[in-house]
Amino acid sequence: MTVVASRFERRHRDLYETEKWATEALIRRFPVHGLTVWEPAAGNHMIADVLREAGATVRTSDIAVYDRQHDAIYDFLVDRPHSEPLVQAIITNPPYGKGNRDAVIFARNALERCDGLVALLLTAKFDFGKTRRFLFADNDRFWAKIALVDRIQWFPGDTSGTEDHAWYIWGPKGARYTKTMFWEGKK
Ligand SMILES: C[S@@+](CC[C@H](N)C(=O)[O-])C[C@H]1O[C@@H](n2cnc3c(N)ncnc32)[C@H](O)[C@@H]1O
Repeated sequence: MTVVASRFERRHRDLYETEKWATEALIRRFPVHGLTVWEPAAGNHMIADVLREAGATVRTSDIAVYDRQHDAIYDFLVDRPHSEPLVQAIITNPPYGKGNRDAVIFARNALERCDGLVALLLTAKFDFGKTRRFLFADNDRFWAKIALVDRIQWFPGDTSGTEDHAWYIWGPKGARYTKTMFWEGKK
């Protein structure tokens, strides 16, 4: 039996749902057609659905179930089950946690678990700070940052705007990348 998360759990688990345009901004620069993608913090599949519409095959997992069923229930911060999907990309908006600590672990684990493309939606200054150099300046796979010039509305009716966000993209293992900056927004 699947237990669906309560409203309290939704807040507790950092369920912020990504507006469609933000994922469309990513795939304008990094098309996903024909790729098998893992969305490991899938929430209500806001990102997964856009990837599918763009021609990707998407496997979903999450630590909790809200309104949509996932392929697996999986704590991405700790587990590494044998049923881990074989994929060419990991794409998600992960939980950030206090001081972005969960987001750092998510990024590290995603790079360990996927030799292909990794794209994470994070706060706009996530790449600042000496302790994250291993993900960016000192990381051969770090490829691109897409600054979102529009703000994501996380909840219907919320007009106050929140923080600025960006996509951070790491390329497949084995190649070296010229680190590149893009700017994208709503069309
Ligand atoms: C910011 S929401 C994003 C949801 C979805 N990716 C989207 O963009 O609409 C973060 C998601 O991470 C999930 N989550 C929180 N902790 C997790 C963990 N340790 N492992 C896997 N998923 C987790 C939450 O349940 C929630 O669905």
